[in-house]
Amino acid sequence: MAPHLRLAPFRPHEGPPELHGAARVGVRPGTELIHTLAATGERPLAFRVSGLPAGLSVDPETGIVRGTAPAAPGTHPVHVAVGNRLGATSATVELVVGDALALTPPLGWNSWNVYGETVSAGVVARIADGMVASGMRDAGYAYLNLDDFWHAPARAADGRPLAHPERFPDGIAALAEEVHARGLKLGIYSDAGHLTCGGCYGGYGHEAIDAETYASWGVDLLKYDYCHAPVSREAAVARYRTMADALAGCGRSIVFNVCEWGLRRPWEWAPELGAAYWRTTPDIFDSFSYTFWGVRGIARRNQALAEYAGPGRWNDPDMLVVGNRGRGRVASNLPVGRPLHLPFSVHLRGLDDRQSHTHLSLWAMMAAPLLASSDPTELSDVDRDILLNPEVLAIDQDPLGQQGRVVTRRRGVWVMRKPLASGGAAISFSNVSPFRARRRLSLASLGLAGRPDVRDAWARESLGPLDHLEVDLARHESRVFVVAPPAGG
Ligand code: GAL
Repeated sequence: MAPHLRLAPFRPHEGPPELHGAARVGVRPGTELIHTLAATGERPLAFRVSGLPAGLSVDPETGIVRGTAPAAPGTHPVHVAVGNRLGATSATVELVVGDALALTPPLGWNSWNVYGETVSAGVVARIADGMVASGMRDAGYAYLNLDDFWHAPARAADGRPLAHPERFPDGIAALAEEVHARGLKLGIYSDAGHLTCGGCYGGYGHEAIDAETYASWGVDLLKYDYCHAPVSREAAVARYRTMADALAGCGRSIVFNVCEWGLRRPWEWAPELGAAYWRTTPDIFDSFSYTFWGVRGIARRNQALAEYAGPGRWNDPDMLVVGNRGRGRVASNLPVGRPLHLPFSVHLRGLDDRQSHTHLSLWAMMAAPLLASSDPTELSDVDRDILLNPEVLAIDQDPLGQQGRVVTRRRGVWVMRKPLASGGAAISFSNVSPFRARRRLSLASLGLAGRPDVRDAWARESLGPLDHLEVDLARHESRVFVVAPPAGG
């Protein structure tokens, strides 16, 4: 355990098997499904799966499910058992065939904060391998998302999108196949204007051909930005609707991400369009600051939007910067009216250990999409323990899909409460003040009656039955507890 943090070390490829990741998986009727039944533990693993609908099959060694989803809407409980030399475990994953995708917040990786305009097929292959080797995939991180700058200088003569010929010499379809072979899904990026924020060609006026081409390439997610586009909310809704409709009809399950930085209250209109998540804030930088680009400032803004989140529709407070430690670049496009493209990268000091685990604590309590934008091949042990902690990820992924709400912010300690599908709740304490802080809260005051069992999620320790929670927090430290449902309740 890192001496100054109550954080359990996590070796994703040691010990008995554990199952992680989404417990409810959405897929459109009759479309291709690629889904890894995420499991950690010593290799080799052996998966046994029952209840998979016809058309889908599982690789018994990797847990990768592939095939075509049933043509009819419906819910299929799939029983998953996995074993290794040291033990066995099982769980039920619900396959939900219907319109809603991302029934739990997407977990994955995004190229922007690390690679910016240098993203390439080589980077993607390295990251895909890194996501597997680091255990990220096996902890549930499923998406590998290309951000801006995958584009060729121009579209093909017939209007089709093209990838950059030098950085993606074999095109996106070949890349998608590589990513899928590792059990990961590929995300791509475009913009509702004629140009992207970085100045590549945008999607405006090409929505149908883009959706069709993305589907033929095997793309699984689209982040749709809003640079070089009209200011009004009506125009934004219309432009996002055109793309959403094109995706809905493209014959593939493509998760739709609205990215207009929360300027037009997208939480009020994006879910009706079929968007699975929408940015609520400007770009995050590698900073814990209270500014609109820092972890605390962004969290505070996103916390106010809890009522808008639910299964298949999530508030997105932007990527995780955990793991960058100041090495990552900061976003070089600031959406201030017109995009401001800085021709250089600015480096910040980054987050320390406590700030990193507070960042993840807050994002998990907010049921945020967790899109790491750091290099998985360069993660320190502490950063890996933070990004992969299964009990904190499980709070984020809880199938009830509720965003946690703030109970109190008294004297710089944010207490949040997130109801869980078990009938219990996750409770977090985040000391965002510069001072040490002690707090004691009765579980009854949090609406949790009796003496329920309590676990410390970061430490992965059972604390036994309790009627109160007590914390002694260093500056910027968090504690996260999982409280079982009241006995008999
Ligand atoms: C910004 C967006 C960032 C990133 C960037 C690419 O508008 O918020 O997350 O996608 O554009 O140019």
